[in-house]
Amino acid sequence: MVNRQSHRKDEHVSLAIKFYDPQSHAGFDHLRFIHQGIPEINLNEVNLNSHIDKIKLDFPFYIEAMTGGSEYTKKLNQSLAKIAKETGIAMATGSQSVALKDYSLSDSFSIVRETNPNGNIFSNIGASLDVKNAQKAVDMMDSNALEIHINTPQEIIMPEGDREFNWIDNIKEISQNLNVPVIVKEVGFGMSAETVQLLIDNGVKNINISGKGGTNFSKIENYRRKEQELDYLSDWGQTTVESLLEVKKAKVSNDVTIIASGGIRTPLDAAKAIALGADAIGMAAPILYSLIKNGEDETIKFINDFKDGLINIMTMLGCNNIDDLKQVKMLVDSQLQNYINQRNIP
Ligand code: FNR
Repeated sequence: MVNRQSHRKDEHVSLAIKFYDPQSHAGFDHLRFIHQGIPEINLNEVNLNSHIDKIKLDFPFYIEAMTGGSEYTKKLNQSLAKIAKETGIAMATGSQSVALKDYSLSDSFSIVRETNPNGNIFSNIGASLDVKNAQKAVDMMDSNALEIHINTPQEIIMPEGDREFNWIDNIKEISQNLNVPVIVKEVGFGMSAETVQLLIDNGVKNINISGKGGTNFSKIENYRRKEQELDYLSDWGQTTVESLLEVKKAKVSNDVTIIASGGIRTPLDAAKAIALGADAIGMAAPILYSLIKNGEDETIKFINDFKDGLINIMTMLGCNNIDDLKQVKMLVDSQLQNYINQRNIP
């Protein structure tokens, strides 16, 4: 018999593909760069190195948390790990909570380390698990970092979801006691300045704001519901752009890593997210969609083209490296300026 949670993992994949939209709705259209006609730089001088905490990244983007916990998603994880290895980018797996409950499912995660022995691999668990389970999740893949996801709207919409959301003490304890860097991430609803501040005040050093505008877990969970849909929640949250602006309102010191994900679909979206302050970018559905529709080789090409695209944009802007890109100012349209004014974003 297929375990109920394994079935859910498979459904998440098929629904993420069903609803996949190659257009971003994460707010990037409200921003534009100013063209610089004489950038005084050569294409081959651009360096894409970045970091998450103490982890060095050759490229500032990675495969964001998605799969594991079933036979089908084991195969997907293996393919994603091959793609990550071939392209030299980091990779997070989907939530390992399912394998911590039923250890027979752990091979759908450990396959990632077997496939990519020297790569950067990030574990993923929900915010209600304790530090012991967090360490077990890391040990399962000998991971380089742990992601803790926060996903209140998703849980609320799922009839079988959590109903208790007192997470901060737990997040603090894991952040303080784990032997690898801890990233707290959303799952596509974005973050407010208040949430970012609460995390920082509790010792969190790495934050992935995962905003609205890409994969939409309100839509996915509503579709799975047998009871009446709560589709009035399908537009809940802050976009990725709004969330990155919210980070500017919180007191974030230089040693905090900010990661952007949610609706990042093109190198231009990624460049804009970095110019808004992100150190790294996570992409989930575009990579899964490419893998399922076009296979491993095309997905490797998609990622290598993405690297080239970012280099092209950085060249046009005269940026040698990611730190230079983080300093570039953009124009915002009146709709986004309205958000900035109402939220008193500096
Ligand atoms: C996800 N996401 C996710 N996040 C997480 O922290 N743990 C998880 O188990 C999952 N599972 C999952 C499954 C599938 C099929 C998808 C597409 C996504 C959320 C993901 O990491 C990311 O935050 C959002 O998908 C937004 O990014 P994209 O998809 O718009 O690039």
